[in-house]
Amino acid sequence: MNLTLKIWRQKGPEVKGKMVEYKVNDISEHMSFLEMMDVLNEQLIEVGDEPVAFDHDCREGICGMCSLYINGQAHGPDTKITVCQLHMRTFSDGDTVYIEPFRAKAFPVIKDLVVDRTSFDRIQQAGGFISVNTSGNTQDANATLISKHAADEAMDAAACIGCGACVATCKNSSAMLFVGAKVSQYALLPQGQVEAADRVLNMVHQMDLEGFGNCTNTGACEIECPKGITLVNIARMNREFLKASLKG
Ligand code: SF4
Ligand code: FES
Repeated sequence: MNLTLKIWRQKGPEVKGKMVEYKVNDISEHMSFLEMMDVLNEQLIEVGDEPVAFDHDCREGICGMCSLYINGQAHGPDTKITVCQLHMRTFSDGDTVYIEPFRAKAFPVIKDLVVDRTSFDRIQQAGGFISVNTSGNTQDANATLISKHAADEAMDAAACIGCGACVATCKNSSAMLFVGAKVSQYALLPQGQVEAADRVLNMVHQMDLEGFGNCTNTGACEIECPKGITLVNIARMNREFLKASLKG
């Protein structure tokens, strides 16, 4: 298929960006979206133009790096997938495809389609871990009993890959789905209880410092999340936060 691409080009964080039009021809419907971008970049390099900068790593829906806005939707027109899992059969010959970076104050553009999501790393560093001694006296995994329901819910929350689609989609640029998932995966397990109060207070504090907005229960984040993280996790985080605040 032959496509027209309108892509956000921006030379650097302080430079004004703009949409630039490109044509790509003979794109196979079996290609992934990122392979189509590779074709465009080879085309640009051949004529001496600068290739379009975009993030990717695993190309199999695990790392959360390939975060793009495609035709006005985070991760493109399909559901429950990342951009690297999006296939060109989703588009038709002659289509115009708009490709932009995730936009939020806390995700400044570095170059073209690449944004700085280290704000997520700083939230994780504020409490997204447990401190356990693993040097020689590790407990047998079966020694701590966990109900099947709690284990399943914790695993569902742990599926969050930190892609940022929830932030990019939210009209308030709220990171509460991400933080809710990270708080939940420990709040549901006995191993997470020791540091539970500090964790939620510190992560929410860091979230606010980074400039993310608040949640107004619109639910767009849940719809666009490629990993099916639900609003239940935000409700759980709010309960954990209230509990920790009352504890003082
Ligand atoms: S909650 Fe979903 S959309 Fe948000 S960072 Fe995690 S995986 Fe991405
Ligand atoms: S490149 Fe890793 S999730 Fe897409």
